[in-house]
Amino acid sequence: MPSTLRSDAVASTLNHLLATEEKQDLVAAFAEAGVDMAGDYPVELSAAELAERTKDIIMSVSREGGDLLYLLARAVRARTVVEFGTSFGISTLYLASAVRDNGGGRVITTELQQDKARSAQENFAAAGLADLIDLRLGDARETLRDLPGPVDLLLLDGWLDLRLPILDVVEPRLRSGALVIVDDIDLDIGRGFYQDFLDRINDPAGGYLSMRLPVHQGVQVCLKLG
Ligand SMILES: C[S@@+](CC[C@H](N)C(=O)[O-])C[C@H]1O[C@@H](n2cnc3c(N)ncnc32)[C@H](O)[C@@H]1O
Repeated sequence: MPSTLRSDAVASTLNHLLATEEKQDLVAAFAEAGVDMAGDYPVELSAAELAERTKDIIMSVSREGGDLLYLLARAVRARTVVEFGTSFGISTLYLASAVRDNGGGRVITTELQQDKARSAQENFAAAGLADLIDLRLGDARETLRDLPGPVDLLLLDGWLDLRLPILDVVEPRLRSGALVIVDDIDLDIGRGFYQDFLDRINDPAGGYLSMRLPVHQGVQVCLKLG
């Protein structure tokens, strides 16, 4: 936990959630949910069906990834943050903590599965950060259409095949110098879901500078140019 996470309530909520996650047997949990994550991506399931089947599984950014989110949000002095994929709210807590330490603002986050959204709200309250977080229940392709601009940081951490469509939704709101952060970039190896995303981000005419960082399963950090 970085020393910059100054609030005990945030640190203890995160520690509790991350310790619970670390006790999970992820392979067994996905198998029980009928999802073979080592095989082909379950494209036959809708986003909502996949969310329903995996509703009890904590699959958050890593501790290191969370520290990186906090650091980057502080670095760009983020006041307005948008997140695709709340789950139990672990990444949201790192981001909201940074927003609070930047002087205040808002994290707009969205989750498709209602039980997860309810648990996330409880975690936000336990951490004392609920007043900084606007959790929108529903499909990000709809819930993120109405955003206040300018957005300083976007975290893409929902289902792999929806990350480019969600970038399309939020991109018009990104300020020059905003960061787009993509978790688990390495999970796509051999599957190709990110290829369109990476082609877009790495296109010299595309308006981004981008780099993969070797944090956990790969974090892509993209800077929106002016
Ligand atoms: C990898 S988890 C997010 C983890 C979270 N960012 C964290 O670090 O704690 C992905 C989440 O995205 C949600 N999700 C997937 N597709 C979605 C969509 N179209 N709209 C909203 N949420 C979605 C899933 O239900 C799941 O809880």
